[in-house]
Amino acid sequence: MRILKFFSFIAVAATTGLCSQNITDLGTIPGTTESHPTNSSLGTILLLHGFPDFSYAWRYQVPYLTSLGYRVIAPDLIGYANTDAPWEISNWALKAQSGDIASLLDQVAPGEKIILGGHDWGAGLAYMFAAWHPEYLKAFFTLSVPYTRPWLGPALGWNDTLDLVENGTYPTLAYQLQWRDPAMDRNYSTEADVRQFYNAAFGGVTADGVGALSPFTGIDHDILPFLGNQTSIPPDDFEIYVKKISQKGLRGGLNWYRTRRMNWEDELELAVEWESKGGFRFSTPYLFVVAEQDTFMPPKYYADLGQYFDQLTQESVDAGHWSMWEKPDEVNAILGKWIGEL
Ligand SMILES: *[C@@H]1O[C@H](CO)[C@@H](O)[C@H](O)[C@H]1NC(C)=O
Ligand SMILES: *[C@@H]1O[C@H](CO)[C@@H](O)[C@H](O)[C@H]1NC(C)=O
Ligand SMILES: *[C@@H]1O[C@H](CO)[C@@H](O)[C@H](O)[C@H]1NC(C)=O
Ligand SMILES: *[C@@H]1O[C@H](CO)[C@@H](O)[C@H](O)[C@H]1NC(C)=O
Ligand SMILES: *[C@@H]1O[C@H](CO)[C@@H](O)[C@H](O)[C@H]1NC(C)=O
Ligand SMILES: *[C@@H]1O[C@H](CO)[C@@H](O)[C@H](O)[C@H]1NC(C)=O
Repeated sequence: MRILKFFSFIAVAATTGLCSQNITDLGTIPGTTESHPTNSSLGTILLLHGFPDFSYAWRYQVPYLTSLGYRVIAPDLIGYANTDAPWEISNWALKAQSGDIASLLDQVAPGEKIILGGHDWGAGLAYMFAAWHPEYLKAFFTLSVPYTRPWLGPALGWNDTLDLVENGTYPTLAYQLQWRDPAMDRNYSTEADVRQFYNAAFGGVTADGVGALSPFTGIDHDILPFLGNQTSIPPDDFEIYVKKISQKGLRGGLNWYRTRRMNWEDELELAVEWESKGGFRFSTPYLFVVAEQDTFMPPKYYADLGQYFDQLTQESVDAGHWSMWEKPDEVNAILGKWIGEL
């Protein structure tokens, strides 16, 4: 059994309105992982962040969900901030990570059926956790990134991301071809480089209004030095991202983009089993929250989610990729309503 030490930047002592900024070791001090609702706890909600985020992604949801009476746990996932980042990329495969999440839950919420939430790669992990370990879940939700069959079917064989970009299946995943390249790790390992990466990712533009991150090309390394400051988040929050992620550089986050083939191999087994039962369907109650302005996720990617979920609720917010911190009130209202109806 692999042992991964999880930490969290925000999970403890959340009270309505304010998050604690203490780092908590979620792996070995389970007693301190809880947000502490003053109301009696209705259950546990586990929140999985995406790239290039960390537990801080959920800074507006932890207090809100706590105020509803839930205990909330938001770990830094593998490769981020204080959580482990081993050298072997296979640790990042979504099946392996699903096992880590199950172990974490065995420690911090034994025997409980929890509510799981995920954004971006955290959504990808949430789907696979729901596929491999449905017995842990009461319900789950994801933001921004819809479910896609991670492979196109056992009969079709393996298709590399490059092929699926070039033949028009997933044109906006072209940036992943750059990000899976190990050259990215070297280019974004120092604090100054990490700062430039986050400035581009969070919307910094040149004097002419040109950004340095595109779904079709990835990062334009050459114009990074000419970007003005990002305006997506307050400067204090921006410094928190730069400081936390600089501890390890971008390698740990980018490794999430390097497991597609491993995931496909792991999931073949699941695929054959599911197809024998009539197809790809999740029976756990599920909410998808569309981010309408997310240029990485055009509507065709989520046009027909009903085919995969027995109990689908679909909502939508007028936000870009990071809806949970771009439009926290709207996202919280959607989550609160859905949770209230479970
Ligand atoms: C962080 O933890 C220390 C020691 O437990 C405590 O004194 C401090 O108030 C905490 N800070 C926050 C922001 O919760
Ligand atoms: C406790 O829950 C009630 C609703 O049941 C809510 O109105 C109240 O704000 C909650 N209290 C706190 C301290 O969160
Ligand atoms: C996907 O893989 C199958 C089987 O190897 C192959 O026949 C097909 O051409 C591939 N599709 C693309 C877009 O490369
Ligand atoms: C691209 O290739 C995949 C895998 O072979 C196939 O399922 C899909 O229909 C193709 N799409 C287009 C637009 O050709
Ligand atoms: C990495 O750095 C090299 C040398 O500065 C540069 O040519 C290349 O474009 C960079 N790549 C990325 C993805 O930033
Ligand atoms: C941009 O941010 C840096 C800190 O990261 C700050 O020192 C600088 O003054 C900012 N520039 C502008 C034009 O706001």
